[in-house]
Amino acid sequence: MITALRGAYLSYTGNPFESEDAPCHRFESDGLIVIENGVISHAGAYDQTDLPAGVVPEQIRDGLIMPGFIDAHVHYPQLPIIGAHGKQLLDWLDHYVFPTEQRYDDPAFARSIARIFLREELRAGVTTPITFCTVHPESVEAYFEEAARLGMRTGAGKVLMDRNAPAALRDTAQSGYDQSKALASRWHGRDRLFYAITPRFAPTSSAAQLELAGALRREIEGVYLQTHLAETHAEIAWVRQLFPARRDYLDVYDHYGLVGPRCLFGHAIHLNEREWRRLAESGAAIVHCPTSNLFLGSGLFNLRRAMVSANPVRTALGSDIGAGTSFSPLATVAEAYKIALLRGESLTAHQAFYLATLGSARAIDQDRHIGAIEAGKDADLVVLDFDASPLLAARQRFADSLEERLFVLMTIGGERVVRATYVAGRRCYDRDDRAYVAAAAST
Ligand code: GUN
Ligand code: ZN
Repeated sequence: MITALRGAYLSYTGNPFESEDAPCHRFESDGLIVIENGVISHAGAYDQTDLPAGVVPEQIRDGLIMPGFIDAHVHYPQLPIIGAHGKQLLDWLDHYVFPTEQRYDDPAFARSIARIFLREELRAGVTTPITFCTVHPESVEAYFEEAARLGMRTGAGKVLMDRNAPAALRDTAQSGYDQSKALASRWHGRDRLFYAITPRFAPTSSAAQLELAGALRREIEGVYLQTHLAETHAEIAWVRQLFPARRDYLDVYDHYGLVGPRCLFGHAIHLNEREWRRLAESGAAIVHCPTSNLFLGSGLFNLRRAMVSANPVRTALGSDIGAGTSFSPLATVAEAYKIALLRGESLTAHQAFYLATLGSARAIDQDRHIGAIEAGKDADLVVLDFDASPLLAARQRFADSLEERLFVLMTIGGERVVRATYVAGRRCYDRDDRAYVAAAAST
């Protein structure tokens, strides 16, 4: 099937952190994107791009088409506890997360939350989430089944947790290995889905469990690993106590073969210089989760060290729902900007939108498929509305560059800026027709 979209589009071609002056994006004020079987076959200026005979492009008026956003660290099972009051990380896990996650042994409950979660991601313009599930294999099955129905490119994994958690949420080193392996063999590489081995974080896995996580990583071609790293000082002190032989927090994961390409570390706020260098040389990625870091009072991530240094670290963006407070990558980068300012640094709009698209795609090693509007990439797209609210429309009249318009959009845009979201060329969310989402989820 061949379809096409005509309208303004913006896509990054390079890394705006490397040079603020060099051209790093392509903006077409009147562009044409031709889509064949879910993949972009041509993209360019409307008057220079061949439109296949018989194809009438859908007109996107007064909007901006961008690559679908990436949410590289999120917990779908925590949707019911977003915005829970008053605790920092370790108490928040005990008080809110662990009680809620116990409900996911029920496949019907898991499915209902997975459905709402995916709908919210699409509503926020996210076409590729990478999510933690719970310790229950049922939670992973439910997620992948729902994502497969939508045809999404997404990753997920069963949480591994064999200590320091309630009994109902504990597996064993062996059962965690067996269940992860069975889930990966069913889902990894099926359609556009991929599996992530998911030890929750070092304190909730025994040495034996981490050892077997490393074995899984060696055994499953192209598999991902996701976990948490250096989010708070109390957590780091606990890791030091539990693994006294290791040099630092990252070294715990490294010791078990869990540091390298396709290893995604949430937060990484409080790293020492050795850990920074090791992350850089290993090809592992950090996932920066600013709304979560502010909500839990965890600390101010050093984005500049990650992106602008002699040895940069691949860095993606995450909502970290339910510690994060918004699904919207625009809200996420707005908080990243404020964190940068609190550190005496800054973030430009192009840097922010690069991070939400191509930058995250590169960090998670999916840039062959997503993150840009180019021939050969999946047609996962979002349409943004510069005039989504009366205030935005009024403010945009005083903006005189694309960069300023983008910055205003991310700063005061709010929920309604996403007008539509396309998954593999199919409109799965339409702001003005809520039936699209319901239909997408029930077909
Ligand atoms: N560290 C271990 N588990 C979690 C979690 O669920 N959320 C966050 N933000 N940090 C964690
Ligand atoms: Zn997390």
